[in-house]
Amino acid sequence: MRPQTHVLFFLLYICGGLSLDFKVVDLTHDHSNTTIYWPGNPEYNFTILARGNTTGGFWYESNYFGTAEHGGTHLDSPAHFYKDRHRTHNIPIENLIGPGVIINVKNKAAANVDYQVSIDDLKQWESIYDQIPKNAIVIMNSGWHERYPNASLVFNTDSPTDSSTFHFPAWHEDTIEWLISERSVNVVGVDTPSTDFGQTKTFAVHISLGKANISGAENVANLDALPESEV
Ligand SMILES: *[C@@H]1O[C@H](CO)[C@@H](O)[C@H](O)[C@H]1NC(C)=O
Ligand SMILES: *[C@@H]1O[C@H](CO)[C@@H](O)[C@H](O)[C@H]1NC(C)=O
Ligand SMILES: *[C@@H]1O[C@H](CO)[C@@H](O)[C@H](O)[C@H]1NC(C)=O
Ligand SMILES: *[C@@H]1O[C@H](CO)[C@@H](O)[C@H](O)[C@H]1NC(C)=O
Ligand SMILES: *[C@@H]1O[C@H](CO)[C@@H](O)[C@H](O)[C@H]1NC(C)=O
Ligand SMILES: [Zn+2]
Repeated sequence: MRPQTHVLFFLLYICGGLSLDFKVVDLTHDHSNTTIYWPGNPEYNFTILARGNTTGGFWYESNYFGTAEHGGTHLDSPAHFYKDRHRTHNIPIENLIGPGVIINVKNKAAANVDYQVSIDDLKQWESIYDQIPKNAIVIMNSGWHERYPNASLVFNTDSPTDSSTFHFPAWHEDTIEWLISERSVNVVGVDTPSTDFGQTKTFAVHISLGKANISGAENVANLDALPESEV
């Protein structure tokens, strides 16, 4: 019965038309023909199927869109880098919800474009806000989201179609192992195009997250609009 009850309360809340007692923040870049894809992916395809008056006397609009998975603000399912792990539709929805934790490494990323978030960065956050709660959604704020949607700036290269030239910050693999084993996180995110830093050759972060059935979030936008901790 519990799930139905929650759905009912949710509908009543919306239908009540009351103002929300929380602020809603959009953490996505828009999905459009400006969307940045990882090299090798097909481009975004938006096609108008119908837009105009009908013989029935009413207006009608309908569109088609086609997109690769790894473009813009998006989820990396665990299956992305690990066999027999959750694909997006298999991820239990509660695994995609959790307390927010923002790790601000803007100064470090400005000084070192290949920066990898360390366990010390997490311990510094914990020294201010208390221990990272279980099932958290932990996102790196490197300031990189401000570079979007300029691909040269986001991938930080003159050759945005050659991934070997990429230089952007992300997580260190040891930090990810620690978040998984010591803090049981639900999702790990970045405001850059990958949870592994631009110069990775091994994709160790993607593999660790996949193995543990944990989802990644990439190109997360607008992080400065969030507090660094919920409490
Ligand atoms: C992208 O979409 C916008 C709005 O529909 C359009 O004006 C523009 O020409 C498109 N650009 C490209 C490169 O397709
Ligand atoms: C975009 O999608 C439309 C509708 O499915 C299709 O007709 C068209 O060929 C596609 N364009 C590209 C470039 O794939
Ligand atoms: C569509 O129908 C409306 C209402 O009849 C009319 O005002 C409008 O000019 C029509 N638009 C076009 C593009 O035919
Ligand atoms: C991850 O999910 C897959 C698919 O549901 C399951 O077979 C596997 O046991 C899970 N592994 C872990 C480590 O949670
Ligand atoms: C993207 O950034 C580069 C480097 O700053 C700049 O030269 C280029 O004009 C920018 N492109 C667009 C479309 O703004
Ligand atoms: Zn991805």
